[in-house]
Amino acid sequence: MEVGTWTGASAMHMARVARGLGLTTEILCVDSFLGDAEHWMLARQRSELRLEFGHPQIYRQFLANVVHAGLEEIITPFPCTSAHAARILTREGVRCDIAYLDAGHEYRDVLTDIQDYWVLVRDGGALIGNGFRPDRPGVRAAAREFGASIGQDPEVDGDKWVLRKE
Ligand SMILES: C[S@@+](CC[C@H](N)C(=O)[O-])C[C@H]1O[C@@H](n2cnc3c(N)ncnc32)[C@H](O)[C@@H]1O
Repeated sequence: MEVGTWTGASAMHMARVARGLGLTTEILCVDSFLGDAEHWMLARQRSELRLEFGHPQIYRQFLANVVHAGLEEIITPFPCTSAHAARILTREGVRCDIAYLDAGHEYRDVLTDIQDYWVLVRDGGALIGNGFRPDRPGVRAAAREFGASIGQDPEVDGDKWVLRKE
């Protein structure tokens, strides 16, 4: 499960890696496809939303990218907020080996996503997050706080953090 997909770059990268390894992988991409608060607040980034009638066209670009790359057998979109998707997936009993969080990067958003998606990760799987950097203090605080609650220090690799589920 990828939470925060934008136009699909990271999902397509993971899909190519999985295919290269010969894995039968499905990547479920959860995204509102409405952009981050930052996209709306910063004029420079707002143009990236490609607004039409006031509505972002990110989803269309994502679909076009995935189809153009021939990865539609691996990548499944779930156009929904992270909270709603987690509730639906929990109720439907859908589980994953890896949840990769790259949606909101504010402390509360990250902590909520961690709590919601940790329960969806199978035993032996991992929760991975993006943005473990000095300019994203909320990400570091949320990952560390949740890690402490389960007796783990997040493993950090570049700007990614990892918690493993035994
Ligand atoms: C940083 S971008 C993801 C980038 C992508 N992982 C990549 O590397 O190409 C963040 C994405 O999260 C989505 N997002 C932010 N908050 C969200 C939420 N609460 N629920 C669903 N999607 C959300 C935005 O629409 C945006 O597409």
